[in-house]
Amino acid sequence: MEEKKPSRLYFIGKKEDLIQAKRTTVTLDGRDILIIYHQRTFYAMDLQCYHAGSTLETGDIEEINNKLCIVCPKHKYKITLAEGEGLYKAKNPMEAVPTPQWYSKGIKQRVHKVTEVDEDIFVTLSTCPGWIESDFYQTEKGRAELRKAQESEDGEEDVNADADEDV
Ligand code: FES
Repeated sequence: MEEKKPSRLYFIGKKEDLIQAKRTTVTLDGRDILIIYHQRTFYAMDLQCYHAGSTLETGDIEEINNKLCIVCPKHKYKITLAEGEGLYKAKNPMEAVPTPQWYSKGIKQRVHKVTEVDEDIFVTLSTCPGWIESDFYQTEKGRAELRKAQESEDGEEDVNADADEDV
């Protein structure tokens, strides 16, 4: 029988420092995590984007369908900060007048829990069972793939930009 590891609170830093920094990256138990402070709230998620592993650290934040999303700098995929849900815009050709709308791809990015205790900030790694796509870039295979892509990336054009899709 699989033994369930107890959740551990990792101390990240003083609240004031993390507010100043706005974005902080840490490695916890071998996992790369991005901590974001935005509109008086802390969020934590896997650092590498589920799509192709780009770092999310410098992604803009936008509100889409009343959800705050980080926009991956690489191909502009949108990921909700609170749930790690992938959102995309598409037209439904079955509609009389197809108009672009936002749709969900489901949970794609693993998000983690942030806890404030007095002036200290802690993160508890997600124990949500099952595979979430961003898990790939936390594996040896995913990291090796990223290193390889990095080596051959210089001078190459982006051919994978997020475009409107038909559903
Ligand atoms: S790597 Fe993030 S959208 Fe492609």
